[in-house]
Amino acid sequence: MTDLSPDLPRDPRHDPVLREEVIAALAIAPGERHVDATFGAGGYTRAMLAAGAEVIACDRDPDAIAEGQALVAEADGKLMLIHGRFGEIDRLLAERGIDAVDGITFDIGVSSMQLDRDARGFSFQKDGPLDMRMAQEGETAAEWLNRADEAEIADVLYQYGDERQSRRVARAIVAARPLSRTGELATVIRKALRHPPGAPKDPATKSFQAIRIHINGELDELMEGLAAAERVLRPGGRLAVATGPRRSERRGPPPFSRRRARCAPARPKRRATRARAPRRCAARCAPQPRPGRPN
Ligand SMILES: C[S@@+](CC[C@H](N)C(=O)[O-])C[C@H]1O[C@@H](n2cnc3c(N)ncnc32)[C@H](O)[C@@H]1O
Repeated sequence: MTDLSPDLPRDPRHDPVLREEVIAALAIAPGERHVDATFGAGGYTRAMLAAGAEVIACDRDPDAIAEGQALVAEADGKLMLIHGRFGEIDRLLAERGIDAVDGITFDIGVSSMQLDRDARGFSFQKDGPLDMRMAQEGETAAEWLNRADEAEIADVLYQYGDERQSRRVARAIVAARPLSRTGELATVIRKALRHPPGAPKDPATKSFQAIRIHINGELDELMEGLAAAERVLRPGGRLAVATGPRRSERRGPPPFSRRRARCAPARPKRRATRARAPRRCAARCAPQPRPGRPN
């Protein structure tokens, strides 16, 4: 893979998917100001810095912000790292005296840092507390699963996980309550779906994704983030959104992103992105002719 950030060390914890595609779509000119709305382990931010951008990055996860301080120090004043939700990105920028930017990028989903740490409770492959909160505040997955009624759980599994057997799984979850560990939940789902041991695809995948999306209000956040992006993008600014492979993860407001961001409705490069990573750009904006920047 091409190293897009030769001057900045790679972060061995995270090799971000779709980074090359997103950076190419952004067509960053040196000196431009770009927002990385989902900092994570900073893979996209590093590539933006390497392309000559000044970067304002945000993440709702306090761990991502704490661990990103080393990159802030390396970036020599070119990186501002903000703890907050991207649904409020216009307010977060305004509070820092920034009212317009040249590009905004959203890399939607869970980071490998979050997934890999048992204590965060995102993974069905590790046993940990049933948490799943990106921001580390609010209701945990265990609290919600232990109080929600069966129909509500089934709806979430179906809507956000494409789980066709959502009712069966919800019934099993309710029967097994109280749940407190990811391992317990994974076992309940596997039993409910009669998962043969050693079968390639773990049936807990869809339900874990759905519960995570629900706990973090991810679709509402994306809607708010896209609306906020519209308010701060300059004319000619670019918007990039990288999403997961599932239909449920790609849900969002495509007419919005095409119409309001005034982007050419670029076709996703299905073959290219499938071949290298199980994710794709859901909305890519062709670079627009850039009018002269006022400042
Ligand atoms: C897929 S990871 C991003 C990885 C990143 N592109 C990189 O190169 O390391 C998604 C990140 O977005 C953050 N996130 C998700 N929803 C958010 C929101 N509404 N506001 C701010 N950050 C959010 C998560 O905490 C996570 O760190």
